[in-house]
Amino acid sequence: MKTRKAVFLGLLFFVVCCGCVKEAKVGKPNLSPDIERRVEKLLAKMTLEEKLGQMSQMHEIYRKESLILENEIRAGRVGSFLNFFDIEKRNRFQRIAVEQSRLGIPLIFGADVIHGHRTIFPVPLAEAASWNMALAERTAKIAAREARAAGIDWTFGPMIDIARDPRWGRIVEGAGEDTYLGSLMARAKVRGFQGDDYGDSERIAACLKHFAGYGAAQAGRDYHTTDIPERVLRNVYLPPFKAGVEEGAATIMSGFNDINGVPVSGNRFLMTDILRGEWGFEGFVLSDWKSVTQLIDHGVAEDEQAAAVIAATAGVDMEMVSSSYIDHLDELVRKGKFPLSIIDEAVSRILRVKFRAGLFENPYTDVAIAPKVMLADEHLEIARQMARESMVLLKNENQLLPLKKNVKSIALIGPLANSRKDMLGTWSLGGREEDVVTMLDGLKKALPNCEINYAKGCDVLDTSKDGFNEALEAANNSDVVIMAIGESAELNGEAHCRTNLDLPGVQRELLHQIHATGKDIVVVLFTGRPLTIGWMLENVNSVLIAWHPGVQGGNAIADVLFGEYNPAGKLTVTFPRNVGQIPIFYNMKNTGRPEDPTDPYTTKYIDVPNTPLLPFGFGLSYTTFEYENLKIEKDKVSMSGSLTVSADIKNTGKYPGEEIVQLYIHDITGSVTRPVKELKGFEKISLKPGQTKTLTFTLSTDDLRFYDINMNFVAELGKFDLWIGPNSAEGLKGSFELTN
Ligand code: GLC
Repeated sequence: MKTRKAVFLGLLFFVVCCGCVKEAKVGKPNLSPDIERRVEKLLAKMTLEEKLGQMSQMHEIYRKESLILENEIRAGRVGSFLNFFDIEKRNRFQRIAVEQSRLGIPLIFGADVIHGHRTIFPVPLAEAASWNMALAERTAKIAAREARAAGIDWTFGPMIDIARDPRWGRIVEGAGEDTYLGSLMARAKVRGFQGDDYGDSERIAACLKHFAGYGAAQAGRDYHTTDIPERVLRNVYLPPFKAGVEEGAATIMSGFNDINGVPVSGNRFLMTDILRGEWGFEGFVLSDWKSVTQLIDHGVAEDEQAAAVIAATAGVDMEMVSSSYIDHLDELVRKGKFPLSIIDEAVSRILRVKFRAGLFENPYTDVAIAPKVMLADEHLEIARQMARESMVLLKNENQLLPLKKNVKSIALIGPLANSRKDMLGTWSLGGREEDVVTMLDGLKKALPNCEINYAKGCDVLDTSKDGFNEALEAANNSDVVIMAIGESAELNGEAHCRTNLDLPGVQRELLHQIHATGKDIVVVLFTGRPLTIGWMLENVNSVLIAWHPGVQGGNAIADVLFGEYNPAGKLTVTFPRNVGQIPIFYNMKNTGRPEDPTDPYTTKYIDVPNTPLLPFGFGLSYTTFEYENLKIEKDKVSMSGSLTVSADIKNTGKYPGEEIVQLYIHDITGSVTRPVKELKGFEKISLKPGQTKTLTFTLSTDDLRFYDINMNFVAELGKFDLWIGPNSAEGLKGSFELTN
């Protein structure tokens, strides 16, 4: 999708008539002859044990005594370490590998740099709500700069699992439910981490994870089974990975889940047929934490030897933490029971990435760099800007927000108002609490003369109401109440799934009691997932989602609450009315009995509407926008053509503001059932009060392709509806037809 400057990317090479189309190989063909020569030469010198060493990634907690680790490194039995945060030790281990092992192959140090290293940015689901890919790329670039200075060569990110179930704790780690936006985010993050050359001293290798389908965990329970028909896999879950491969991602991580009966970390169809055969991926695949030996628990491997054979044969090149490769493949190869060619292929991929990462030329980290780059001013400014842009205004009755800066007294109530660790969010391994600006800090800085009556009220999970009275007193003694409530960081992330999405603990009761005071209330909601907040939306004047906003969260929240920044974020996940509606997402199918209020025998519940509490793409502003004058260039589009559509967007309020304008289509009739809506474009525009802008999108037939009844990736003739609007539930509607 191209917006404005309609750039039609040349001819589309495909045969339409339900024809024979398989996608061309997409990996960036950037094999460097020099590197390939060096890989080949080095591989030829390696013993089988040294090869298996390269296929092994260790974590200290599993080999406690450093002495053992140093001997393993010296013997060439380790290729990588993960989550090392001690530069001196990292250099010491690297010196052993480079200067004391037989071939001097450097180690590669990986870590979970998911949303920042020392400068922690908002959690990924928050970043996605900014819909600002350039800024998302920028935060990844900063993360790479800090991580490399800390001795980390490779991040286990971006996490690009499409997630449609908010019970799943890891929904926080990705870009949400939409394939199109998730694919753009995958590209932005790979570019940010790697740049054009991840051997650069301020870049790191990326790792697309978790390949694939992990977010479809049954019942939203982490590590649970996934059953994903191939067409859904290809149309929904794989495109972000394909996009990341096209951007040149260095590595991919295989997931924990069993997909359609075959655990991903032993799944040749995924790791070899699709990843290499169809996409031409030349990097390497790392398993997830012990996901190779977990093939035993899945019930597809008798023992660790069998697990090693299945995973290595499937195309998992490096084993994280478990040691079945180095413990068992040696003997099998010597007995002629396992092909050396698979090992040589895996090791070549690993060496290729190590050469590209510049580790042979620059294996050591200059310890003098870190103090200069960590938390640099420009890093903090970007962290503040991303936190501002990620916030989503859900309600603002009677324009209570922005608050006036001359407000005399504010009651700041709630367990998240002054919590440092919760602002960091999950997966913030390099972050430090002392770096955080809490909401209390931010308000005090923004309003030096205001009386801020802070009362925690309760803990996030604790059921004690002992703090309620103090909170009520603060509320009654103040002009306005700001509540800081929601989820703590520990309530989401890996292995932190919830069956109940209400406000945790007694926070809901605290909110009710504060509401009963009759004071105006602003809720700042901290969360890593959609929550069932129907009562809050019904009864509270203003609600702003701050997610877990990172080290600059407190400043950014103050900026938004007092109008320094007019919120423009939009949801990239659907908020359900209750858990019973899950899974619920905007691009579902129409069914054969679409809801019809006049016909009881149509698809619906008898206790709640089919619509969600808040739709994908939803977010308000302090100003208002009007959409008018939809123009569709022509009502018939030929297969080799393209279509420009435009609309006028006007700022009809009194504040300057930004609006994320969204383009959706509906392929009305296909060889298979099609989603009722699909996001195919968006652009964030700034408008002054009274200003109107015409925004033009260009749809190419390439944008209309999907995997059809024959599993070919094609665009099909027929009628389409389209919308240009503020979210997935509203907008100006038009239509067009794809013809021969
Ligand atoms: C974890 C996660 C994965 C992470 C890895 C290393 O179990 O699933 O995302 O990168 O282990 O920490």
